Amino acid sequence: MKLENKVAIVTGGSRGIGRAIVLQLASDGAKVIFTYQSSEQVANELAEEVKKNGGEAYCIKADASSFEEAQNVVNFALEKFGSVSILVNNAGATKDNLLLRMSESDFDSVINTNLKSVFNYTKAILKPFLGQRFGKIINISSVVAITGNAGQANYVAAKAGVIGLTKSNAKELASRNINVNAIAPGFIETDMTSKLTDLQKDAILVNVPLKKMGKPEDIAKLVSFLSSSDSDYITGQVIAVDGGMVM
Ligand SMILES: NC(=O)c1ccc[n+]([C@@H]2O[C@H](COP(=O)([O-])OP(=O)(O)OC[C@H]3O[C@@H](n4cnc5c(N)ncnc54)[C@H](OP(=O)(O)O)[C@@H]3O)[C@@H](O)[C@H]2O)c1
Repeated sequence: MKLENKVAIVTGGSRGIGRAIVLQLASDGAKVIFTYQSSEQVANELAEEVKKNGGEAYCIKADASSFEEAQNVVNFALEKFGSVSILVNNAGATKDNLLLRMSESDFDSVINTNLKSVFNYTKAILKPFLGQRFGKIINISSVVAITGNAGQANYVAAKAGVIGLTKSNAKELASRNINVNAIAPGFIETDMTSKLTDLQKDAILVNVPLKKMGKPEDIAKLVSFLSSSDSDYITGQVIAVDGGMVM
């Protein structure tokens, strides 16, 4: 198995894309620690599912926007397994509104959950990664970070910030054999996109050459590749998984 003896931290692993990433990395042989914010039951069920499949996974309730809680998750992983090799910054949330109606607190909260969270976990894992001269960091951004999107100023700004962090961190950490890459998903079938009406989905699919929404597993397979030695010569990249929407 390509990730045997590796330990991965996945933020926001209880549902959607994060859930698929947890299942994929565990089936690749990694021991996985994943976080959630409120879905305790589904998180526990996922950890059980991984165990039933012969893998190892643990879930921890931790708000990704809190630096202290990120540090606690990293410390738990280090105490439990001795080292961590893979960090997947996946936790994210939206609070959409037109700029005119967007409150300051909705702007701040979306920036903190989607962008500051990436800083929190990267900073918390940095010393162990530098010390072992190895690490794979995969940040989940979005295609809207590249295109912009009306009604999502807070989310787009955060996801564009994730791309900036990815590139800066890739340059800063490359000499220590730490790869930092971002994935920019297009429209993927999860709770996050389930709020879209059929009309909105049809309008989106007009601009998707493959004419379908993606599945969480489409993202998880790329995370698996970027976590493995197959991607050792790839860093600082933003890879879109979007059915050809942005090219
Ligand atoms: N779906 C898409 O089309 C799409 C497109 C582009 C990018 N993305 C990005 O992909 C990532 C996953 O999205 P998704 O569609 O899978 O979303 P989702 O189905 O809404 O799941 C979000 C996950 O993040 C967790 N989470 C939310 N806020 C958190 C916080 N403050 N601290 C810790 N965990 C938190 C949730 O935990 P709880 O279950 O406890 O709430 C859940 O596990 C996000 O970064 C999103 O922005 C998604």
